[in-house]
Amino acid sequence: MDGGGGPRLGRRAGLTLDPSPINVRDHSGRPLERALRVAIVGVGDRGSVYARHLDDSDGEAVVGAIAEPREAIRKAMGIRYAIPQGAQFADWRDMAVAPRSCDAVVISLRDSEHLEAATAFASAGYDILLEKPMAPTLAECRRIVAAAEKANVWLGVCHVLRYTPYTSLVRSLVEGGAIGDIVNVQHLEPIGFWHFAHSYVRGNWRREATSAPVLLTKSSHDIDWLSYIIGRPATRVSSFGSLLHFRPEHAPGGAAERCLDCAVEDTCAYSAVRIYRKGLTPGLRESSFTAVVAPEYSEDALSDALRNGPYGRCVYGGQNDVADHQVVSIEYAGGITAGFTLTAFSPLENRRTRIFGTKGQITTDGSTVELFDFRSSSTTVHEVASGAASAGEGHAGGDVAMIKAFVRALCDGEPSLFSSDGRTSLTTHEIVFAAEEARLRGEVIGLS
Ligand SMILES: NC(=O)c1ccc[n+]([C@@H]2O[C@H](COP(=O)([O-])OP(=O)(O)OC[C@H]3O[C@@H](n4cnc5c(N)ncnc54)[C@H](O)[C@@H]3O)[C@@H](O)[C@H]2O)c1
Repeated sequence: MDGGGGPRLGRRAGLTLDPSPINVRDHSGRPLERALRVAIVGVGDRGSVYARHLDDSDGEAVVGAIAEPREAIRKAMGIRYAIPQGAQFADWRDMAVAPRSCDAVVISLRDSEHLEAATAFASAGYDILLEKPMAPTLAECRRIVAAAEKANVWLGVCHVLRYTPYTSLVRSLVEGGAIGDIVNVQHLEPIGFWHFAHSYVRGNWRREATSAPVLLTKSSHDIDWLSYIIGRPATRVSSFGSLLHFRPEHAPGGAAERCLDCAVEDTCAYSAVRIYRKGLTPGLRESSFTAVVAPEYSEDALSDALRNGPYGRCVYGGQNDVADHQVVSIEYAGGITAGFTLTAFSPLENRRTRIFGTKGQITTDGSTVELFDFRSSSTTVHEVASGAASAGEGHAGGDVAMIKAFVRALCDGEPSLFSSDGRTSLTTHEIVFAAEEARLRGEVIGLS
């Protein structure tokens, strides 16, 4: 670590930190004058995860400022990370115009705020780690990348799946020639029936007009991951899919507007009462979802949320319009192909992938990577102990590894240590938007 007050990255000569804006200390009170100072804007679900991992970085990075309108959360985070009052903001806009006290900012606001925040923080000279998707429209994504390039700041996007141990293993097997040349890939995202109901029928990502298509909000990770593994530019894309099931005409007789009033709630797979009450038991998968529905995490708060909030509504109430199943076919340079399926209609499971090469096949579910070698007809099984691949469980080690890569890239002044930089991510977002266009127009869309 350098001990001076100059710019952290050599390439960022001309950008200097405000010399004494905040007094950064580690947990034992030791001053950390040149730890990477990172601001978190939007300390919700994702922002709090990243704050925790930054804080665990052995003093290489600190959470130096936060912006979050919820006072209780802001205060708690301020105490937890010893953030001075002057570096705590209720609105990211105030932080963006205040003297710059941090090297970088994590933008973990809702998707619709990404453009405004990213362009403001780029102009203010912050390096930026931006949550995926970059933004709800391709034009906005392009503007974000252009703003970062114009301001000469580093931009990275949180494609956490790239950083998982199983992805590293798959990449090293592919690059080492273990399966010869990739010919095609089959990739499945089993979102899970109650997870889908939570996020895409009842929750924040249920309508395209207020969010974006599910392929962008959920599966921009997967389309990005395929590009990362295949390592070639996409050339053509087609797609089919629709909202097939979660529609009013599929409501069973006796269904009510809310699960609490429903005569057939007990027989319904998507009962909010059953799913979220189950989540009142800490440690179960459903518990992090119940904590979103009722942040106070009590029986009373949950009953109130089910009675009055969006998560208590019948899944057949018609409040949603995003597709509940979709397939995407992608052709890459050299004629390699990939088929991607997303579905609501599965248990909540890890993604499943088969990579077919000229000399062998890789099969992975994110916790095991199996290599089948054609010549010897033998299978080698690699266990990857990194946990489940859902957001609530750290994306199979991807969250923590991505933050490590981010800290290393900025501390070492070596951007290549972080593979999902803004321009790379823009390219994979372009595939997503082309796939949506293909689905809506019923055409094959070419990518230049
Ligand atoms: N990388 C992944 O796998 C992954 C997973 C889930 C969500 N996401 C993305 O992460 C982002 C955040 O999602 P989330 O689930 O954490 O949402 P969230 O709603 O939990 O968090 C957003 C936070 O922003 C805060 N906020 C709102 N207005 C603000 C303002 N003016 N100034 C400062 N803060 C403000 C909210 O109070 C909230 O705490 C979204 O873009 C989402 O699509 C990514």
